[in-house]
Amino acid sequence: MTAFTVDGGRRTDGTIRVQGAKNSVLPILAATLLIHNKSVIHNCPPLGDVDAALKILVKLGCVCVNDHQSVIVDATDVANYEIPKTLMHEMRSSVLFLGAIISRMGRAVITSPGGCELGPRPIDLHLSSLKQCGVNVREEEGTLFCSAPNGLHGATIKLPFPSVGATENIMIAVAVSKGTTVIYGAAKEPEISDLADFLNAAGAKISGAGSDTVIIEGVKSLHSTEHKVIPDRIVAATYLSAAAITGGRVCLKEARPEYYLSVLKVFEQMGCTLTGKGQELTLCAREPLRGVSTLVTRAYPGFPTDAGPLLVPVLCRAEGESRITETIFENRFRFVEQLRYFGADININGRTATVIGRPLLAATVDCTDLRGGTALVLAALAASGRSFIREVHHIKRGYYDLPGCLSALGCEVKEVEIDGSHTAEKEEITP
Ligand code: UD1
Repeated sequence: MTAFTVDGGRRTDGTIRVQGAKNSVLPILAATLLIHNKSVIHNCPPLGDVDAALKILVKLGCVCVNDHQSVIVDATDVANYEIPKTLMHEMRSSVLFLGAIISRMGRAVITSPGGCELGPRPIDLHLSSLKQCGVNVREEEGTLFCSAPNGLHGATIKLPFPSVGATENIMIAVAVSKGTTVIYGAAKEPEISDLADFLNAAGAKISGAGSDTVIIEGVKSLHSTEHKVIPDRIVAATYLSAAAITGGRVCLKEARPEYYLSVLKVFEQMGCTLTGKGQELTLCAREPLRGVSTLVTRAYPGFPTDAGPLLVPVLCRAEGESRITETIFENRFRFVEQLRYFGADININGRTATVIGRPLLAATVDCTDLRGGTALVLAALAASGRSFIREVHHIKRGYYDLPGCLSALGCEVKEVEIDGSHTAEKEEITP
């Protein structure tokens, strides 16, 4: 079994380039299906989720070449319209392919993505929006049969919640369509703007991306294009958290701090010093960190739900009592049970976690999900002794070589093969 070992207690001190954004790459890869030609996507990190997306594209008939930083997708000969259950289950974001497949093939068959480790993740907003654009949807025993016999057409869509995935699915579905679509209440995440930039570079007519009203004038076809994906703001927040929790320093290259101002504000509240020039950003930690009691996750530009778990271990090392409230996903705090093996003092009441600062001790723990798993690695960086982090396939979905990147910053993190029965430290501390 693959695991990470972390020898805690070392401060970060170094410079690192932020990888391309997973949450930009995935919808952009789905959107390449619309182009009857080659798309070249640069700054595409080699991640578990990217592999899963490429498998779907290949299954649908694309030829994909992945050189581990750039991906070429040739969608000239797309011939299938069905995503098999196994691929749907590999990555919940496979629902992002729905609009693209219907647009390209006139129909799509996918299995309902169902729940995930963060709780139930319905796709009602995706489906009701696509229906408004001319898609028929029939569900039979967990399989969705979708078709647009007369092609997709423009619509006025009002999203009751700014769903990132639904906004992206609609944009992709109607980029090539008859008429104009207006999305009110759209998600405003930077990854939405990146998707719009990719589609516009290919000939789409999308305006307003990044605001709550996105206008898509359908075009007849898209053409071949190249696109460089924006940096990953959650990965940036991960390195900043590593510096904060170890009392260290980190300089991020290709940082794009404007994408995560809400996160930077929290580090400043904790007493960290942030300095920046151009696309570089440096964080120097304060010791001890100050606790924060007003952290609430929100849709962009609020504090991102994906960064919430990263801050929890950092708050474990801050003075006094801190509080963080999660408003987007029900099961975001599942990893907290594992965090308690480090000796963390965390009380969960509904959607709010109350964290009391105290020293952390090494532990053997299991990742429950991508960001929760990363939170465990961060805790281990600050815990005295050697920790074992298992089930790291969750982390590999969204981070390229996290052990190598943290080691380059001066931490001791290694990827190792361990016996599945390894439970050493876990038995010593009972949460
Ligand atoms: C995307 C991100 C994920 C991030 C999330 C919120 C990708 C690949 N993933 O996920 O990392 O945590 O945004 O910033 O970009 N909902 C419904 N019905 C729907 C759609 C969503 O009820 O049809 C609910 C979800 O259950 C969830 C909330 O809305 O509670 C947010 O979902 P959404 O914004 O759609 O997130 P994702 O696109 O799944």
